[in-house]
Amino acid sequence: MSYNLLKGKKGIIFGALDEKSIAWKVAMRAKEEGAEFVLTNAPLAMRMGEINKLAEACNAQVIPADATSVEDLENLFSKAQEILGGKIDFVLHSIGMSPNIRKGKTYGDLNYDWFQKTLDISALSFHKVMHVAEKQDAMNEWGSILALSYIAAQRVFPDYTDMSQAKAVLESIARNYGYRFGKLKKVRVNTISQSPTKTTAGTGVGGFDAFYDYADKMSPLGNASAETCADYCITLFSDLTKMVTMQNLMHDGGFSTMGVSEDVVEMISKQS
Ligand SMILES: NC(=O)c1ccc[n+]([C@@H]2O[C@H](COP(=O)([O-])OP(=O)(O)OC[C@H]3O[C@@H](n4cnc5c(N)ncnc54)[C@H](O)[C@@H]3O)[C@@H](O)[C@H]2O)c1
Repeated sequence: MSYNLLKGKKGIIFGALDEKSIAWKVAMRAKEEGAEFVLTNAPLAMRMGEINKLAEACNAQVIPADATSVEDLENLFSKAQEILGGKIDFVLHSIGMSPNIRKGKTYGDLNYDWFQKTLDISALSFHKVMHVAEKQDAMNEWGSILALSYIAAQRVFPDYTDMSQAKAVLESIARNYGYRFGKLKKVRVNTISQSPTKTTAGTGVGGFDAFYDYADKMSPLGNASAETCADYCITLFSDLTKMVTMQNLMHDGGFSTMGVSEDVVEMISKQS
């Protein structure tokens, strides 16, 4: 159902790789809610061609950008403003990648060059996005900037390895740039900490299916889907959440507040 929550708003959406991507669902919902936006992803991801399907469905243009490259981001923000005919109201940073996870490295055996790549792609890129937006004075007042995080920033999930540190840095950047952008332009900056979700990035983490089921059994509402995450993102881009900033917002069906659930106790009792 559409409420026209984003009518007249202009945005940039990073990270739609395929139909399972959280950013894909956000783009579809943003379109439904009346937004105009450009889509972007790393040049490598473009070659898979899927994003063009989304672009067609949303009547959006695609501008390739490696989010670790300030030059690419400068080009993206200036082209986006040209295409959309004005400044930007919302930005979704839906980017994550760890070469260590991809190559199956354990936490005690990390490759440090890759660790730096993980941090650059998954966390520093968020700073770079906001740095470029600030330098170009590209954001409208009361705009909203959002990145996606995971509870491994606060708690230990062994298979999440160096992505845990990336998410901790990401959330810290949201707080610190949130202060700066709030003072400068009344722009709010938040992260959403999302349940495990069956996407390319998600299922790449070792033991994903087991901890997906575990989180589902721990959460009174079950795991939050990509679709409900998109709904939440839309509210944070809308004018209904103007005073929410510098927050890490849990979108996890209640998981983060649980100690143990009856379902998990039952599951373990059956095994022992
Ligand atoms: N899937 C989950 O379980 C889960 C849970 C919590 C948070 N998240 C976060 O949600 C976000 C989106 O991930 P997803 O689950 O939709 O998976 P996804 O694989 O669909 O999206 C990740 C995106 O990051 C992009 N990317 C990688 N390197 C890039 C670069 N250098 N420049 C620009 N883009 C780059 C990829 O092309 C891809 O589109 C990530 O930040 C992820 O950590 C995912």
